[in-house]
Amino acid sequence: MHDQDFNRLALSGRTALVTGGASGIGRATALLMAKRGADIVVLDADTDGLRGLEAAFSDTGNTVIARAGDVTREADIARAFDAAADRGMVIDILVNNAGTGARMPATELDTDTWSRVVDVNLTAAFVLSREFAKRLDRPGAVIPGAIINVASIMGVVGNQLYPNVSYHASKGGLVNLTRALAAEWASKSIRVNAVLPTFAETGLTTALLSSNSLREDILAKTPLGCLAEADDIAEAIAFLASDAARMITGTALPVDGGWTAV
Ligand SMILES: NC(=O)c1ccc[n+]([C@@H]2O[C@H](COP(=O)([O-])OP(=O)(O)OC[C@H]3O[C@@H](n4cnc5c(N)ncnc54)[C@H](O)[C@@H]3O)[C@@H](O)[C@H]2O)c1
Repeated sequence: MHDQDFNRLALSGRTALVTGGASGIGRATALLMAKRGADIVVLDADTDGLRGLEAAFSDTGNTVIARAGDVTREADIARAFDAAADRGMVIDILVNNAGTGARMPATELDTDTWSRVVDVNLTAAFVLSREFAKRLDRPGAVIPGAIINVASIMGVVGNQLYPNVSYHASKGGLVNLTRALAAEWASKSIRVNAVLPTFAETGLTTALLSSNSLREDILAKTPLGCLAEADDIAEAIAFLASDAARMITGTALPVDGGWTAV
């Protein structure tokens, strides 16, 4: 690899807001981006998970701000952007990663639970994206930006393994939100992409993956025959945020061992 190629993956001088960055895929992404030179703001509802995050990232040498808040609350979102602005930082990478699900048969899914999943996985990603784009839109000084939406393979396929309809619908919506915003904001030099992870062992999936038979079913549906790791997904997100992906917008990149290819 030429030095020049490697440098295009660098994120020096950039500031990334990572939602749900206290654990799992979000934490792996925040850490990788900090190692590649970005300053980081993490917004997460899990105050315990945020404790010690700034210290854990301190050897990257970059600024890391951990903010407790709920992505469905617009005041909490504004506070995360303000925390960066107060330090003179402009957020130019947004990773919409916070997510949730409700695994139950559709006939038993009450409307409030449906709405909560859609609010976290889809509506919050829209509101965060809107606030991100508004803050980059400065007269006479276009600041290029990158948004990466963490969707799921379940946003583009059905799932015979277990029912989770609000998750599927919201992640599918997130995939097409990605395309629509990519088209609308290309003129603002904001690229918008999604990643579609397969199963990775995180807090979201611990209970699910404790079932050996389900784990075997998942591996059988995965041509590469293994689960993902949070770092595999972080690599795809960091790539899409970087100049190495400067011609890529509106895409949904599977990180799925081939699940959606067969
Ligand atoms: N782990 C997988 O197998 C898998 C597969 C496909 C997609 N994903 C997606 O990856 C993303 C990250 O999930 P993960 O697997 O790392 O799970 P995780 O539970 O480890 O992390 C999710 C984080 O989001 C935070 N969060 C949830 N709701 C929030 C809210 N309303 N406001 C603020 N923070 C909130 C949680 O506190 C947690 O820290 C999710 O969008 C998930 O749907 C995960």
